[in-house]
Parts: sequence; C-alpha cells; structure tokens
Amino acid sequence: METFYVTTPIYYANSLPHLGHLYTMIVADTIARQKRQQRIETFFLTGTDEHGINIERAAQRNNRTPKQQADYVVSYFKKMTAAFGLDTEHGGYDIFMRTTERFHYEGVSEFWRRVAKAKTPKGRDALYKGHYEGWFCAACAAYKTEDEYAKAANPDETPTCLVHETKLDRVSEESYFFRLSDYDAALLSLYESRPEFVLPDVRRNEVRSFVQSGLQDLSVSRLWSSVSWGVPVPDDPNHTMYVWFDALINYITAIGFGNEQQRAVGFEKFWPALHLVGKDILRFHAVYWPAFLMAAEVEQPRAIVAHGMWLDPNGRKMSKTLGNTIDLDVLNKYFSTDAIRYFCLRDMVFGQDGRFGYENLIDRTNSDLASGLGNLSSRTLTMIQRYCDGRIPERNISDEGLLRAKRAGVDTDEAAVSDFVAHARDEFIRYFDNFAFSRALEEAWAIVARVDKMISDAKPWDLAKDASQKQTLNAVLYRAAESLRWLSVLLYPVIPHAARDAYAQLGLTDDPSKIDPGNLKWGQLSEGAETGEVKPLFPRIDKAKTMEELGNETKASGAHATEAGVAPESLAEPETKPAPPMKGATEADAERSTTAGTPALPAQKEIGEGLIEITDFSKIDLRVGEVRSAERIPKADKLLLMTVDIGEEKPRQILAGIAQYYEPEKLVGRKIVVVANLKPRKLRGYESRGMLLAASVGEEGKPVIATFAEDVPNGARLK
Ligand code: MSP
Repeated sequence: METFYVTTPIYYANSLPHLGHLYTMIVADTIARQKRQQRIETFFLTGTDEHGINIERAAQRNNRTPKQQADYVVSYFKKMTAAFGLDTEHGGYDIFMRTTERFHYEGVSEFWRRVAKAKTPKGRDALYKGHYEGWFCAACAAYKTEDEYAKAANPDETPTCLVHETKLDRVSEESYFFRLSDYDAALLSLYESRPEFVLPDVRRNEVRSFVQSGLQDLSVSRLWSSVSWGVPVPDDPNHTMYVWFDALINYITAIGFGNEQQRAVGFEKFWPALHLVGKDILRFHAVYWPAFLMAAEVEQPRAIVAHGMWLDPNGRKMSKTLGNTIDLDVLNKYFSTDAIRYFCLRDMVFGQDGRFGYENLIDRTNSDLASGLGNLSSRTLTMIQRYCDGRIPERNISDEGLLRAKRAGVDTDEAAVSDFVAHARDEFIRYFDNFAFSRALEEAWAIVARVDKMISDAKPWDLAKDASQKQTLNAVLYRAAESLRWLSVLLYPVIPHAARDAYAQLGLTDDPSKIDPGNLKWGQLSEGAETGEVKPLFPRIDKAKTMEELGNETKASGAHATEAGVAPESLAEPETKPAPPMKGATEADAERSTTAGTPALPAQKEIGEGLIEITDFSKIDLRVGEVRSAERIPKADKLLLMTVDIGEEKPRQILAGIAQYYEPEKLVGRKIVVVANLKPRKLRGYESRGMLLAASVGEEGKPVIATFAEDVPNGARLK
C-alpha cells in the first residue's frame, strides 16, 4: 500500500501558538486528509521543540522548570489543536511529537553516534571538537554571521539580531562542530538531481545560492554548564546537543529511528517525509538537515516545501516579538474552523506572504462560503424538498421531454455540466498536488458559479408551475445535487465539517472522507433517495457587529495568546492579563478626563524585578508622526482630536489629553512620537488609534510632547 508522511515544524515550547503556527498545521492537515481520501496510508506529525536556552529562559521568567514550561505550552497546544479539529480525535495529526520523550533521546543519540563515525564526502571526520567564538540568537536558536546582526553604535556593546531585534549572546567555548563546509558539492548535486526537493522554485534558488556562496562548519553542541536543557552528547556529558540538531531528528525518531518504542509506526514504511516549513526556517531544513542525513546515511526527505509568512494589515510579519499576532482564542470564538481553513488556503497564495485582516476573513466567509457554496446547497435542497418530495429527482429526460425542455429554453445537454465539473475536478487535483491551494479552490468555486448559472437560467420555480416540465425540472435539480456531491468530496480536505454536512443533507450515508475525488463518476447519486434536513452550511456573519465585537475584545490583540501566561484550561482566559506595556502622560490624561483612572502599573509577574526584556520593549511599535490637524472636542476641555500621518495610507485619528496645555493650531506640522500598535479605543464617542508620547512634568503632570531636533521622515520606527 502506498504511504505518505507529512510533517509541520515542531514549535518552540517557550510561547503559545498563533496564526502562523496554526497555518502550517492547517495545510498539513488538509494534505493528510486528501491523501487519506485517496486510500494512501498517511502519517501526519506535528509537535513541540522543547530544548534550548530560549525555553530555559522562558521557564525561568515564569518560575517553572523547563519541563514544566514545555508541559504548560503543550497542554495549550493540544487544547488549540482539538478546538480547531486538528488532533487525532478529529482525524488530524497522528503524533504530537515532543523532543523531551525518552525515545527521542535514544534515537538522537543513535544518530549522533552515526555522525560521529562518519566521513564527509571529502573524506574527513564529519564531527570534530573545536572552539566556538561568536554570536548566538536565542530566539532564532542560531549562530549569527556578521551580515545577520546589527552592530551596536559602540563597539563594546552587544549586537542585535536582525530578525528579532534582540541582543545576541556571546558564546566562547569548546564545541563539537559538524563539518558542513565539506558538503557543498553533495548538496548542490542533490538539488540538481531532484528539482522537486525544495519547493517552490524561488526558494530552491535561494537555497542553492546560499550553498554556492560557501558553507561554514556548524557548531552542534554547547557546554552543559551554559546550556543544560538539551540532549546530552553521547559519551561526553560535558556537552548538550545544539537544539536544531536534536529538533530536526524528531522527524525520524517519531517513526522509530533508533528506538524501540516507535518502531511499530514504521520508519521503513513512512520515511521519507514531506516537510512543510515557513520560509524563515528553510535553511535548517534544506541545507543542514540533508547534510546531517548524508552523514548518518539516512535517505533524504521526499521534499521540503516552504510557505510564506502571515503579515499584519500593515505588512509586518506577524510575530511574538512584534506583538502583532492573531489571537487563536479570538479566531476560535468568532469563526468556524472551516471558515478559517478555507480562508488560510484561499487567501494566501501558497509560498508567498499574505496579509491577515478580520474584515477580509469575514468578507470571504460571507461571499464564498455563505452566499456561494452554502447558498447553492440550501437553494438546491430546498427546491428538492419543495418540488420533489425531498427525494433525489430523476436524472434523465425522455426524447419527448427533451423537446419540451428546449421549448422552455433549458439546456438539455447534461454533459455541458458534467464535463465542466469533471474538468474542474481534474484541475483542482492538479493544483492541489502542486500546493497551489488557492488556484485549486478557484476551480471548485467555478463549479459553484456554473451550477448557480444553470439554476438561474433554467428557473426551476417557473418549471414547477408547469406539470409538463416535470422531467426538465427533475433533471436540472439532479444536476445541481450531483454537482454538490462532487463538491463535498472535493472540498472535504479543506472544509471537513461543512463537506460532511452537505453530503449528509444530500441524504448520503457514506463518508466523503473515504471517497477518492479522482474516482468520482457522474450520475452515481441515487434517484429516489431521501434527502436530509436542510440546514445552512455557513451562517452569514454580521460584519458590522462582529467587527465591533472584535474591536472591543478586551485582550490586546494577540499578546495573551502568544505569551506563556495563558491558562491552558481555557482557550479564552489569560492567567494574567498582561498590563498595557507603557502609558504616557497623554493617554493617562485623556483617560482621566473621562474615567479618572490612574495609569496601570505593569504586572510584576511579567517583568521580574521591574526590568523588562528587550523583547518586551520591542512589542511597542513607536513611530514618527506628523500632526496634520488638531481641534478641540466640544464639552471635553482636556481632549484634542488630531489626525497624524505616520506613513500609512491615510493619517490616523488620535485623541490626546493635552488641550489645556497646547493650542491645537500650533501643533499642526509638528513631528511627534506615536505608539502605533495600541488597541483602538473610544473616548467621548471618538475612536483613538494610537497615542502620542509626552513627558509628564511636575505635580500636575503637565504634558510636554516628545519631539525631534533633526528632520525625520513620517513613519520611521523608534527603537
Ligand atoms: N522549533 C523550530 C522548528 C524546528 S523544526 C525541526 C521553530 N519553531 S517556531 O515556533 O519558531 O516556528 C515554527 C513555524 O512557525 C515556522 O515554520 C515558522 O515559519 C512559522 N511561523 C511563525 N510565524 C509565522 C507567520 N507570521 N506566518 C507563517 N508562519 C510563521 O522555528
């Protein structure tokens, strides 16, 4: 029997998952469901990466041991995957892999031993002991070369990671090295001989040029005394393995490499895997991992397929560090899992970056799902209920009937519809197999449009008024119902719940998850079969109301779902609500003018001794803004209503409690500092989207607006 193995990356257990993580799981889950439909025995792995300095530090911050930290995040992950129908119980992943499993330690140790004995393609030892001297980013879990960090102005100061904008760690210690530099030719010939090994093409080219530009040996261990939270190096307890070395091997230990416990899953049966990864971690998968596998003499993966990044509406990568992630609790609360799955696959062109906006998600749900597929299903089934006693009508039109149908202006050629549907099905599968999910879904929706048009042209409601057109009416409704059967099967991997519902509403009792879309034959919907109860597949979302509710969500967007501070017992309730990161005098004043509130202090638990991490600070998006207009607000003597240009499409409206100290006219044209990622809030009926920074002077807290001595462009970031 054919087998298939698909993996997501294993996610760091230092913080809670967000949309970026959910996305890869949705893609992997969709692929796994489609393979299973095709009767291919499929194994789907996801899980957590639990070692390394970053987890150690997150644990310290939360007063936990590293294992407790990992357990905590894992329990949230598992709740999340269950809520989104991605776990084993809902037909999703087969294993939630954890790198703290005993069997993983065994497998990794076996792998290390093999590499330790191996010779490189150039005949030298693949592993050697040396001394590492350089910079390491804990958040990337990667060593950084000079072009990968920003040097501080003062050469004595620590440089910062270009990805995370956090300080690097200086590492100067004994280390085992993997002789990666000897693998360039072997890797290049691998990419050459297997063009499908790294996908999409643009990523393969990147990987190829990276290798062509020369590889450096890779430090693959740390001294136990500096990083104790890792897999011990076999026969050398002074060292722990580099976290990526241990993490990558999870893909094979999970299916039984080097250990007894997982042997039954079947390394021989399932390996090689298709690895789905974000483009930011491609190098680890497409360069380091294949080289490690060459050294250990293990077969190469089937392919490494890289997707793009989810960006926020302003085009910045969604990330924990920037604090602009999409909160999974909120997604789960307002949207069905099918709508989220559909959106992820339809809206993001696989491989490219995509912007996420709730408005977009609501629009797609309403147009494509509720008005499109959902409406086609309910109008077809309602007409079958009404005109055909709730039974699948007869398909064929007699010769005599054909003439009558033509007279009514109905296209009698069934093949016009069935050929269209079959062709779209073939295209759907072709695109799907090439990871072009968005294009595949366009094909499916072409079926929806085609059948909708057939119905509108034939006007069954008119045909129903004429008894002599009964056959015509039946044939039209049969074609619509049969198309819906095909759509349910085709779309099952993407929208499993709705597909099953649609299928059941057609009165079918088997399961679309077990039907290979490639084997669908037109006309197999049984005439006379009783249809099920008609229920809407996708209720319409009230956009205005939902947008308002989303805006009113008390939790700062994303922050609580990404920090390790959320109670795993609930998908919705944070253990401690993170306090607003910072409050400037202006907002505090604005607040006093309405609520007499005092600025909240940052929660002690989050910041230890009153100090914050640079990562905490970088959550705040500070931008240079230029005041475009400023005016007083009637009956609010402290507030000014301003519009401020911070380099976005149009200026933002911001309220500030500075009216007693500044003449509005004098502010126009002034450069100020704006907190750009503050949740919008309403003051006196006006929405304020951000806050300006000002010093708070003297006992009365007189605001003095922060400004610049030099000329600075609008939108420039302060950091
Ligand atoms: N632990 C490593 C992976 C080891 S695999 C042997 C890791 N973990 S991670 O938690 O930081 O990231 C996991 C995945 O999430 C990566 O594929 C990354 O691309 C993805 N995403 C994180 N933010 C993302 C977006 N904003 N958009 C899409 N995916 C993103 O790296």
